[in-house]
This record gives sequence, C-alpha cells and structure tokens, in this order.
Amino acid sequence: MRLDHVGLAVRSVEASAKTFAAFSGARVVHREELPRERVRVAFLDAGGVLLELLEPTAEDGPLARFLAARGEGLHHLAFEVPDLARALAEATSAGQRPIDDRPRLGARGRLIAFLHPEASHGVLVELVQRAS
Ligand code: CO
Repeated sequence: MRLDHVGLAVRSVEASAKTFAAFSGARVVHREELPRERVRVAFLDAGGVLLELLEPTAEDGPLARFLAARGEGLHHLAFEVPDLARALAEATSAGQRPIDDRPRLGARGRLIAFLHPEASHGVLVELVQRAS
C-alpha cells in the first residue's frame, strides 16, 4: 500500500489550483468532472505527491454538505492497493467500515472504494486500484 493522493475539499478548483501553484509550483496534471458524485476535480503534482482538489458542482451533493459543515480543507487520504476487492475484505475484517461495499469507477479510470472516517480516527480513507 502506498499513499496515492491527498484529497482537499475546496470551493473553487481554479482558485485553489492557483493558490497551490503560487507557493509550491504544483501543476495541474489532470482535470475531470464526475457528474454522479457532483464534483469537479483537478489533480496537482506537488513534487511527486498528488493533491486532488474537489469542488462541488451542485448544492445537494455529499461534497457540498461536507463544505457546509466543515469548510475547506482535508477531505480524504487515498492509498493505492494492488487488489481493491481483497483490500476491502481485509479492511472490513480489521474493523473498518466500508462506505462502498464493492469497488466502483472513480476519477482517472481507477477503481475506488471509501472507508468510513468513524473507524479510522476521523479520516476518510479512499482505496484506489490502478486499471489493469
Ligand atoms: Co480521491
């Protein structure tokens, strides 16, 4: 398992990408809109570490509710795993609470699944498997 990216909830992908670029030199390497999740994302390469900026595209989506309740900031940590179905099963037997009970398609064509923050010290965890 390795850290794949850090997800940040933001009000504006454009504004936050500019902010991060200004002090870190991080550049946008991928942009995507995920209509089902009602988010727009941009991935920034910050010296080999990826930041995922997530902006809501509707006022009633989960990310909009997160922003309303908690404001901008850390949203999730994403770990890359070689076999997501297996990692989900292992996480469940280790006491984690999956939000997604099976892998689904996420940004960049990767298979993803989220684990509930309640069972991981308040941090929303995303498991990511590269498309094979
Ligand atoms: Co993510």
